[in-house]
Amino acid sequence: MFFKKKVELDMSNIPRHIAIIMDGNGRWAQKRGLSRTMGHREGSRTLKKIVEACYNLGVKYLTVYAFSTENWSRPKQEVDDLMNLILEYLLNAEKELKGKNVRIRVIGDRKRLPERIQKEIERVESNTRHIQGLDFVIALNYGGRQEIIDAVSCLVEDVKAGKLCEVNEQAIAERLYTHEIPDPDLLIRTSGEMRLSNFLLWQCCYTEFYFSKALWPDFDEACLREAILSYQGRQRRFGGVKC
Ligand code: IPE
Ligand code: IPE
Ligand code: MG
Repeated sequence: MFFKKKVELDMSNIPRHIAIIMDGNGRWAQKRGLSRTMGHREGSRTLKKIVEACYNLGVKYLTVYAFSTENWSRPKQEVDDLMNLILEYLLNAEKELKGKNVRIRVIGDRKRLPERIQKEIERVESNTRHIQGLDFVIALNYGGRQEIIDAVSCLVEDVKAGKLCEVNEQAIAERLYTHEIPDPDLLIRTSGEMRLSNFLLWQCCYTEFYFSKALWPDFDEACLREAILSYQGRQRRFGGVKC
């Protein structure tokens, strides 16, 4: 059997925050003559492995795009199946991550999610609130534009109430769902698509992008290492100059 050599990484330059657009579950299933839901189920297994790999690599924040504000437009059966998988994932998450220092939180507009999921989110978030290690952030019913609309609405209220007198970057960032989370250093999108699809529009202002051809269920630790290796070869300038 042929074993691929493990990619050697510079452990002093691991991205602090990795964001992932987990795409390609449907195509993975289609290629095998399976239902799209089977692809999502397999994708959920991949997610567990990638959370663990990030934890072992010392990544501090991992944000994954699990359900967008636009995904409601999919057939009802697929949306229902996705909601059930999300609930199942949340119900098992703590047990799966037992013994690891992983804090779980959810970003997005949770009011539209089924009540059982909302309750589960509250439970998992509150049970893991004290944990310092990997911050695992799940974007659920998340839309970058909606997030900005919500932040601006809140900002207008605060100005009206006299709580805020200057509108600047910080004033907006503090009102985003991600207010306690630093911007992503590396954004990975799987399945060969090269777009943001309404993910972290504000936060990705200086993020490094990496597009993997692998469909999400096929993405593994070796793919993650390749993405980080690519990141480590980049020169981040933030608009300045580097000699
Ligand atoms: C990503 O896989 C999962 C979600 C969007 C929930 P897709 O379901 O988008 O898979 P493709 O893009 O159709 O292959
Ligand atoms: C983005 O994937 C959303 C998630 C991965 C949750 P989509 O499959 O919904 O995006 P588009 O439609 O290809 O842009
Ligand atoms: Mg897709």
